[in-house]
Amino acid sequence: MNREDFPVLKKDIVYFDNGATTLKPKCVISKMDDYYLNHTSNIHRGEYDFSIITNRLYDEVRGLVKHFINAESEKEIVYTSGTTESMNMIVFGFMMQHLKKGDVVLTDRAEHASSVLPWLVLQKRIGIEVRYVDLEDDYSLSVEKLKKQIDDKVKVISIAHISNVVGDIRDTYSIGKICKSKGIYFVVDAAQAASHIPIDVLKDNISFMGFSGHKMAGPTGVGILYGKYDLLEEMEPLKYGGGMNQEFESSGDFELKEVPIKFEAGTPPIAEVIGLGEAIRYIESIGVVNIHKHEVELKRYLVSKLKNIPNIILYNENSESGILAFNIDGVFAQDTAIFLNHYNIYVRAGNHCTKMLKEEMNIRNTCRISMYLYNNKEDVDRLVDALLKSEDIFKVVI
Ligand code: ALA
Repeated sequence: MNREDFPVLKKDIVYFDNGATTLKPKCVISKMDDYYLNHTSNIHRGEYDFSIITNRLYDEVRGLVKHFINAESEKEIVYTSGTTESMNMIVFGFMMQHLKKGDVVLTDRAEHASSVLPWLVLQKRIGIEVRYVDLEDDYSLSVEKLKKQIDDKVKVISIAHISNVVGDIRDTYSIGKICKSKGIYFVVDAAQAASHIPIDVLKDNISFMGFSGHKMAGPTGVGILYGKYDLLEEMEPLKYGGGMNQEFESSGDFELKEVPIKFEAGTPPIAEVIGLGEAIRYIESIGVVNIHKHEVELKRYLVSKLKNIPNIILYNENSESGILAFNIDGVFAQDTAIFLNHYNIYVRAGNHCTKMLKEEMNIRNTCRISMYLYNNKEDVDRLVDALLKSEDIFKVVI
């Protein structure tokens, strides 16, 4: 699908590490080049032509993101440096002021570091309890098990929309309904979901959400924090500086600007925000539903091939995303990744920043295939051909 839009694919590689970062289409790179080559300027600070052009391109991205995730207002869209910053802002800018000792945050052991570590810090700092829903036998998160863990102490449910290793798509609609009926904040890490499945923060009653530009055909260094407007109004910035203040005086008095600008201190990643906007236009021209369908078809094709190779262990063959975790029996995951690199096939190996998952899986490291719109059957065939030669692995790796 659209391979010709991605210049780096002219190289003889199979890129299966899209969960870590996706490749960038020419239109995104050109849009950022255009900013640097033709109208470099800061935003919201200049009265001259370059600045006016840049302001327009920068500001209009909020509208694109609003539409992309079905938020109610552009004011609910905060530019951040990525999912990690977004999650830290939610926990330390809002939850630290709204939770108290003994309150429970319900999550699971398949969460990525940026979705769970801030909660663990808050647990140490103010004495909240981080509670984990046990995963199913296929390591997915079931709404039934989650429901059983809810009591009056649960104030937050914090989960990934799609797990970055197990690839299960969480039923955010049902979980959001539960949160609404019980007055629980619903925090969603959409890093692996944005541009892979449709996102609807309104329908799913999501309180806060974070995602990154670079995992959705956009640049590194930019991401989004979504928050319901009234919650963002109560949230405190973690950064103070230029651009976000209305007034400050030597008396010590100061006044901040309104949401969302009060969260965007300093010069933001201007080229990157503009690039993210172009990535959204690009993705919407293809259609997120079509991307998801393509990834799932390709994953099914891959699974059908890998099942014929006796020494391959699959961990999540049935999850409905383009993510597949596997190992070669008896081979260290990183050795498999080095072996595949020998054939110009790029996968990720390790614990994938989900260090608690080993407590459920009884295994620390896996190789991960993560698909995107430009992967095709030829990529899969090249991977399978390489894995069929895995008896040679130690000739290559050592
Ligand atoms: N969170 C990214 C991944 O899963 C880095 O690979």
